[in-house]
Amino acid sequence: MARASNRFVCQSCGAVHGKWTGRCDSCSEWNSIVEEAAEATVPKGVSRSGGKAVAFTSLDGAPENRTRRLTGLKELDRVCGGGFVPGSALLVGGDPGIGKSTLLLQAAALLARAGTSVAYISGEEAIDQIRLRAHRLGLADAPVSLAAATNIRDILAALDAPDAADVAIIDSIQTMYVDTLDSAPGTVAQVRTCAQELIRVAKRRGQTMILVGHVTKEGTIAGPRVLEHMVDAVLYFEGERANQFRLLRAVKNRFGATDEIGVFEMTDAGLAEVANPSELFLAGHSDTVSGSAVFAGIEGTRPVLVEIQALVAPTALGTARRAVVGWDSGRLAMIIAVLQTRCGLNLGSHDVYLNVAGGLRISEPGADLAVAAALVSAHMDQPLPLRTVVFGEVGLGGEVRGVGQADARLREAANLGFERAFIPARTKKGKKDTGNLQIAEIAELRDLFNQFDAPAKPKAIDAV
Ligand code: TYD
Ligand code: MG
Repeated sequence: MARASNRFVCQSCGAVHGKWTGRCDSCSEWNSIVEEAAEATVPKGVSRSGGKAVAFTSLDGAPENRTRRLTGLKELDRVCGGGFVPGSALLVGGDPGIGKSTLLLQAAALLARAGTSVAYISGEEAIDQIRLRAHRLGLADAPVSLAAATNIRDILAALDAPDAADVAIIDSIQTMYVDTLDSAPGTVAQVRTCAQELIRVAKRRGQTMILVGHVTKEGTIAGPRVLEHMVDAVLYFEGERANQFRLLRAVKNRFGATDEIGVFEMTDAGLAEVANPSELFLAGHSDTVSGSAVFAGIEGTRPVLVEIQALVAPTALGTARRAVVGWDSGRLAMIIAVLQTRCGLNLGSHDVYLNVAGGLRISEPGADLAVAAALVSAHMDQPLPLRTVVFGEVGLGGEVRGVGQADARLREAANLGFERAFIPARTKKGKKDTGNLQIAEIAELRDLFNQFDAPAKPKAIDAV
């Protein structure tokens, strides 16, 4: 047999190179190539003799009864699409210290208290540290099977046993290793092999396998992209460390909607669920300040109201600055261009700052009209009419286009005591449940200007 030589694997994208180079040809990352022992060679070509024909079946067979395992943390359950699915693998990624271990320990303890057998295997923390945390969280009495281990062979021996737990949490996949591979824990080969072995056992035994993954400085889960392909669902736990709010976001889910978010608050007794995120994102919002618009958005299956703030100031330097937090900067450039071309609002010599309050990141085009309203309000130094929500997509021609789920957005706004809504013209909406909301239909972006009380008085901010 040919001697297995070492290979050079990019730790960022997983590409394999014949020799070491400073920069990966396939993803252009610098210093990401690490020498690894070659894996056992896969036989080339397949002979057809001796193969057992696969058995085909039909689509309409009764699916296996898979009762989901509800953790009781409603935000987590919803993001998973209604609890953990037996025989599935879930990857939870996030920055260090964001609260992944805390969240999963809480979920583990709640599940265990409800009678599910749960194993929590940590490769990062010692038993004492985890116990200390459990005490702090008031969960020390929960019957969770706790272990500190990193060797996959030992872990599999425990998880593949007849009395193995139904839910296993591996914190984290980057600390686990397979002793038949030479490379260090955390390398592409190790992460991939460890995950493969764990997932195989989970699928066979109907366990729920939860893997914690580190993220790189770019914010994606460290290790090969293939890890995200291997698992059934990928959740990201995000938030500003300085801010106590945390968002759990599904970016892939074979059993539910993606773009679903769960909102938590980090308290000294662990993570608390935030049942009504709109109230959180609107905290501190003032109707009487210019440059602020409330966007009625949809995150996953849920309407969420969030404040969009804009600041427009004459530029001190030659080139105008555009800084965006929580929205796409390309989209902001587009809105500024449409405002200029179609409405004659020239921001070319102004710095523009845009911020989505509360640390949320919006990806819906439906926020266009709210951004435009915030910009116009900032530029005119005139607040929007009191208690107004805005949504709608803006096209390059300056037309305002409809967005989905208008009813749900309007209902949420009415529930939270809003009185007006700027929405796209010809929006299909049911009459019910939108309360006394006064609706202004906007067909063209330039119609937005008529919604402000003209003429604008500089710095005149009316009291309520
Ligand atoms: P942790 O779950 O260890 O983060 P990760 O596993 O994602 O690295 O979270 C640790 C942080 O959470 C730490 O900085 C302290 C904070 N924390 C609280 O504020 N309250 C608590 O009750 C707990 C357990 C942690
Ligand atoms: Mg941790």
